[in-house]
Amino acid sequence: MTPSYDVDAVPPAAEVPAESLSSDPWLPTTTLRFPDGFLWGTANAAHQVEGGNVNNDWWEWEHDPDGPCVASSGDATDAWHRYPEDLDLCAAGGGQNVHRFSVEWSRIEPAEGEFSQVALDHYRRLCDDVLARGMQPMVTFHHFTTPRWVSSGAVGSGAWEDPRTADRFARFVETTAAALGPDRLPWACTLNEPGVVATMGWFLGMFPPGVRDPDAQARATATMLRAHAAAVPAIKAAAPDCRVGVTLAMMDIAPADPTSDADVGLAGLFRHRFQDVYVDALATGEVRGLGPAVDDFTIGATSGSVAGDFVGCQYYQRLVLDATVPTFQRPEPDGAETTLMGQAVWPPGLAVVLRRLRDAGLPVVITENGMATADDRRRCAWIAAHLAVAHGVMREGLDLRGYLYWSTTDNFEWALGYGPTFGLIGIDRDDGLARVPRPSLSFLNEIAVGNALDPAVVDRYVNAAD
Ligand code: BGC
Repeated sequence: MTPSYDVDAVPPAAEVPAESLSSDPWLPTTTLRFPDGFLWGTANAAHQVEGGNVNNDWWEWEHDPDGPCVASSGDATDAWHRYPEDLDLCAAGGGQNVHRFSVEWSRIEPAEGEFSQVALDHYRRLCDDVLARGMQPMVTFHHFTTPRWVSSGAVGSGAWEDPRTADRFARFVETTAAALGPDRLPWACTLNEPGVVATMGWFLGMFPPGVRDPDAQARATATMLRAHAAAVPAIKAAAPDCRVGVTLAMMDIAPADPTSDADVGLAGLFRHRFQDVYVDALATGEVRGLGPAVDDFTIGATSGSVAGDFVGCQYYQRLVLDATVPTFQRPEPDGAETTLMGQAVWPPGLAVVLRRLRDAGLPVVITENGMATADDRRRCAWIAAHLAVAHGVMREGLDLRGYLYWSTTDNFEWALGYGPTFGLIGIDRDDGLARVPRPSLSFLNEIAVGNALDPAVVDRYVNAAD
């Protein structure tokens, strides 16, 4: 295939040759400029970095001897205490203007209706410290973890299967947003990747509560959509100018054989449950097709009200579904570049999902995109290739507002523990959690300072000597 960042040249994910499954063919060949005010920064999440989050469902899950987790989150990166070091490193380059992190519900509301002033003060300080370094806070209110008093609910398997969780979440959001106040809330994300939470937790059983039941997945999906719809006005009540959005995990999902009814049906079903139900709900206010367990319902009028003001796009991979394979996932071909998560690198898939997100009718922010790798030059290539692809979709007319790399530092990668390293800043776990900034941090900073992606700069980082 001709090296190109021309998004029109994107072939269907299932048909590309192995050599296209890499960042290299998609690197920019001319300087790409981004609009004024484009957001540049990094993202992380409370449970993955804070350490000592003992009061949520994940902590329990990590300590279940029969569960899938390879490690406890333990001290994580001790960001609860050491986040100023991370912020200093992000701000040092002078280009990053946004910083995304999440507030931990189980710290703020450790028991129902009991709010911790210490935790709220901590997050007020965190926002202030982000602002003091010239970056805008982007606050996520739920990033995978749920307090134990919510997850051990009496209905179904608790947490998101319990419809009461939507109101409980909205009350937590309202209290937290009021405590933070409008100046600390220029940007907010309600829920992070509800499709991942519902699918991994209630359909594949890999996340808490470890359920494998499509009806339970449907109920969890419905509660999460209601929770998002309730959280938007809850945030706006405290911070009317806050730009609020939900962040969606978006994969380029394709049937292995487009002529096979089984593969096409599987891909369609998975795509609907994992992402399309959310995109459609943002676009129309209607929630449809969740199967026999959940009647169709309305979350309300769209754009500017419950849908929010933007949608977060989180892209990491393609997924080629094959009904003849026991896991349904076609293995990646030999010769493909892969990440430490075992996924093939497929930058054009970002174009596919960004085009789909245009249907939501909202501005888009890439709120997560990143590569787990032991080779930082490949991380730089990943960033350049994905930005080049995103720029192509912007030229088609997508209202793209920013790019946030996942993740600020190496962190706790859920069931996979500390193996996959995504960070622009490494964490030396053998040296007191020392912060080790990588060249990719300088690379993102150079892009951010210039508000442009310059092939010469890309070449310098991607082809740097050892
Ligand atoms: C999640 C992060 C996770 C990342 C990499 C996203 O699905 O929001 O929490 O660490 O992907 O797997």
